[in-house]
Amino acid sequence: MKLESRHLDCYRIEKRRLATSMNLRAILAFISLLAAPLLAQVPDTARLKIMAEALSRMQPEQVAANPKLKEALDQVLAGTRGTPEFVRLVQKFSITGQEEALLAFAQKNPAEELGVAAIRLVLAPKSEPLLKGALAGPDAAKTIEALGNSNHRRAAPLLLDVMNDAKRDAALRQQSVRALAQLQDGAKELLALAKAGKLSAELRDTAGASLKEARWSPIRDEAASVFASKSSGTVSNAPTIAELMKLKGDATNGAKIFRRETVGCIKCHQINGEGVDFGPALSEIGTKLGRDAIYQSILEPSAGISFGFEAWSLELKNGDELYGLITSETETDVTLKDARAVATKVGKPDIAKRTQSKLSIMPDGLAKLMTTQELVDVVEYLSTLKKK
Ligand code: HEC
Repeated sequence: MKLESRHLDCYRIEKRRLATSMNLRAILAFISLLAAPLLAQVPDTARLKIMAEALSRMQPEQVAANPKLKEALDQVLAGTRGTPEFVRLVQKFSITGQEEALLAFAQKNPAEELGVAAIRLVLAPKSEPLLKGALAGPDAAKTIEALGNSNHRRAAPLLLDVMNDAKRDAALRQQSVRALAQLQDGAKELLALAKAGKLSAELRDTAGASLKEARWSPIRDEAASVFASKSSGTVSNAPTIAELMKLKGDATNGAKIFRRETVGCIKCHQINGEGVDFGPALSEIGTKLGRDAIYQSILEPSAGISFGFEAWSLELKNGDELYGLITSETETDVTLKDARAVATKVGKPDIAKRTQSKLSIMPDGLAKLMTTQELVDVVEYLSTLKKK
């Protein structure tokens, strides 16, 4: 049909114009064109995606002031429900009443940046019944995970309810403990309960292990004394680096220790693309550092913090605190990645204070999780990783 092909031509031209000049009139023309039912040849999903993209470049006030744009926004929200575009638009335009869809998104992506953004949008007082329902239902585990990653002060009371409910599944209660340890209020509450002897033996063990890795050093220090270590392989008279240098290591075993769940180096470092991209990649660390310097990086991470990997804490105006590496910063917001490599984006106006930590985000007690020989093996392994 003639008319449609003309529309398609306009569509192509406008798409190009959209990419180059983003003036309001061009966007308006473009959006009404896309909204036109005549444009049947462009598949719905692609059309919605482009509309979402165009809208995401507009200011909320511009959209609020223009009925056509508002209509387009509603259309896009309805059509993109449950997708990343949907979450971004809800966030940008402060849309209310979408809590169920946001929660579903967070449950599907509990450890991703947008999933975290989604659960934070859900955590308003009026969503309490919705969240309680989710915690009681089949998606409880995913909901707990999302809440643990949320960095939101309203998450801890919800998790405490699950933890304290003796009728709930033991695995879910333990998962709640681990999630609580990721939240500042939650970690403090766990410490208080442990000190008061109010945790069952099982929950106490989980709390001890999680709190020793907590992000806040005062909490870690206190946890170390409240949960006196019973772990085997602990060296009481830790050898000095000079003594360690004299020992012979086994690189093959070291590679295994590096990947061992309880030691967790691989959860923060990549080697040749394997592992989590959080701390510096170690694929060529044997070229960069001698064995003595590698020992020091592990035993005293804060003695020389690698450039660009400094830890920051952000105090937010709502009282939350975030701690991690700043991975990107724009004029309007800052993205921070925490030690589990979960990224959170915060708007600059929401930040009350930022402070750079003198301590490395790499924990300093890692050597205690290995025997002396295992530590020597890990260093031997790392020193074999050379530039090719
Ligand atoms: C919680 C995340 C985390 C864990 C777990 C972790 N690291 Fe790190 N590591 C970092 C960060 C962040 C840095 C960079 C900051 C610094 O230098 O302290 C770093 C730095 C290093 C460096 C120096 C790198 C350089 O380029 O100078 C070495 C070597 C290293 N880590 C080895 C290890 C080993 C071995 C383990 C396991 C025993 C381990 N790391 C566990 C986060 C971690």
